[in-house]
Amino acid sequence: MYGNDFSAEDAPGGGLLGEVEAAEVALREAAERGRRVGAPGPDQDLAAYFAEVIEADQKIEPRDWMPEAYRKTLIRQIAQHAHSEIIGMQPEGNWISRAPSLKRKAILLAKVQDEAGHGLYLYAAAETLGISRDELVELLLNGRQKYSSIFNYPTLTWADVGAIGWLVDGAAIVNQVPLCRCSYGPYARAMIRVCKEESFHQRQGFEILHTLTHGTGAQKAMAQDALDRWWYPSLAMFGPPDTDSTHSAQSMAWKIKRFSNDELRQRFVDMCVQQAEILGLTIPDPGLRWNESRQSYDFTQPDYDELMRVIKGDGPCNRQRAEHRRRAHDEGTWVREAAVAYAAKRAEKKEKVAA
Ligand SMILES: [Fe+2]
Ligand SMILES: [Fe+2]
Repeated sequence: MYGNDFSAEDAPGGGLLGEVEAAEVALREAAERGRRVGAPGPDQDLAAYFAEVIEADQKIEPRDWMPEAYRKTLIRQIAQHAHSEIIGMQPEGNWISRAPSLKRKAILLAKVQDEAGHGLYLYAAAETLGISRDELVELLLNGRQKYSSIFNYPTLTWADVGAIGWLVDGAAIVNQVPLCRCSYGPYARAMIRVCKEESFHQRQGFEILHTLTHGTGAQKAMAQDALDRWWYPSLAMFGPPDTDSTHSAQSMAWKIKRFSNDELRQRFVDMCVQQAEILGLTIPDPGLRWNESRQSYDFTQPDYDELMRVIKGDGPCNRQRAEHRRRAHDEGTWVREAAVAYAAKRAEKKEKVAA
């Protein structure tokens, strides 16, 4: 039994993987067609040209002129996304040695490695905007750039690994599928690949929970407890409500963002309800009920004050996550030095051959 939101066309959420594929086809077609909006003429106003490309739903590429604020917004967003992939390895990495079977270990190890890969694509996408990976890592280590607040919660039981896959990776996909059509080419392309991999993550989490809920009473209780703890922090992953969201309007105009925080949160809730039923778990929200006129579920909002506290550094694991990352970075110094030395040696060899 697997999660049902990504392949089935009639699934709640409308087949998110189908949307990823459609975005990929659109991207390929646009590349084959070439730009309908030609290169800017010598007298053309660059800002007007930029607006035309966005208006025509074409991609802005690294060498194109772009407003400084667009560049900065993208750097901030892509960096925060990359940092989240890397920090997000910690809560699950914590369970690799304790996964209940060799098969579970292998699957979890592959999943955590995928997250490292996502971080890599995203740092590479950010670098095309003129900032180096070293600078980005430094901004994470000194706390000037953020990562998703969800990773500041602890993973107390094996069921938490299931809940993270099902809910946290699930929320990430709902957030990221529209980014496959983001106006900035390198980010859109990275997102297509990331989303395809995330769909496996979501399914493995769902499958862990399904196994537990069909096991002993204690296993089922463990799964319910994980859902109880992860539900509201997962809803908070979509950010503050639209009324308080500072960056949304401009990002929508630039076609970086396509849907508001509240629209995506609603989509996620609607998707999860049926899946929770299949799992036999109860979403911990007494206010959750179908609203016939909206054709969506009414639900209780997460505690946004708590979200702000965790973002500001006061979550259960903020300090632990940052310290772990700093230590891993320091311990990796020799690897980076060795890689630089190896590259220099190879370049020297090549030069000798060419001479
Ligand atoms: Fe990821
Ligand atoms: Fe993931």
